[in-house]
Amino acid sequence: MIRKAVLTSLVAALGFSSFGASASEQVLNVYSARHYQTDDALYGNFTAQTGIRVNRIEAREDELIERIRNEGANSPADVFITVDASRLAKADEMGLFAPVKSAALEARIPAHLRTDTWIAFSTRARVIVYNPTMVKAEQVQNYEDLAKPELKGQVCTRSGSHPYNLSLGAALIEHNGAAATEQWASGLVANFARSPRGGDTDQIRAVAAGECGVAIANSYYYARLMNSSRPEDQQVIAATAFVWPNQQGKGTHINVSGAGILKHAPNREAAVKFLEYLASDQAQVYFADGNNEWPAVPTVKVNNPALDKLGEFKVDTLEMGRIARSVPEAQRIFDRAGYR
Ligand SMILES: [Fe+2]
Repeated sequence: MIRKAVLTSLVAALGFSSFGASASEQVLNVYSARHYQTDDALYGNFTAQTGIRVNRIEAREDELIERIRNEGANSPADVFITVDASRLAKADEMGLFAPVKSAALEARIPAHLRTDTWIAFSTRARVIVYNPTMVKAEQVQNYEDLAKPELKGQVCTRSGSHPYNLSLGAALIEHNGAAATEQWASGLVANFARSPRGGDTDQIRAVAAGECGVAIANSYYYARLMNSSRPEDQQVIAATAFVWPNQQGKGTHINVSGAGILKHAPNREAAVKFLEYLASDQAQVYFADGNNEWPAVPTVKVNNPALDKLGEFKVDTLEMGRIARSVPEAQRIFDRAGYR
């Protein structure tokens, strides 16, 4: 058994997944840009339930997209898992996904979190984090507030070309229109405390350090710091405050982790089973909690101290497909505004 497990992972690591299967054994090849501690339980339970062995290929999302494209019709990949609607949409636009129709998925996953090809299995929110010694809570209740001149020199974000910000920009285009979003982007850039650099956690740390008064970050980065036992992380939480943006209006922009079945999937039937499994109660908890996210299936709850503490919020239920559609325009607008 042990030898077989070693061989299986070796075969998976080399990417010759289909060679590792005996004639009768069912396999599923998953290309995943997500990697968390809960993955072994997530995939192991699928195998236990279905007898289908899962080969995982894990790499950065852009590498995986490139790989699937290069492999073309010979690709062994059945399922592609990644984060952010803009990345899922990119794979979709490249024609990598095949449509999926499943009554089970339609019953479990809310409509705004599904497209004809890819489906969201967990959600994260793009939130505002501020330093209460530098800005007042009333000043930073909405994404739109971050472009107001009164916050000059206070705002930090990661790069404007990063998918998280492009998806937020796309959601603003869908709600407020392109012209208003361009004004917003210009105002935001004019308010920067420093030119964009680093990831979301770096922005949160910079807020705690007083380098910026306010920042935009994905919720799971803040939750990760909240759940951390490291004193320096606890200091960051103590020095910052958290806002669910746009609660009086459209709700807070959310994004997703999701998956789709690939056009040339050699094991399509197993792939459909796998997506349906990802929508099950148990898999939802592993999939979401592994990254301090929320399950896409509304009836499933994770037991996560940070998320419990942050509480409930009004979600912007704009369809993920519409967000994805406006990402290219968000990129053009951000380029013109100098949000790089
Ligand atoms: Fe992230």
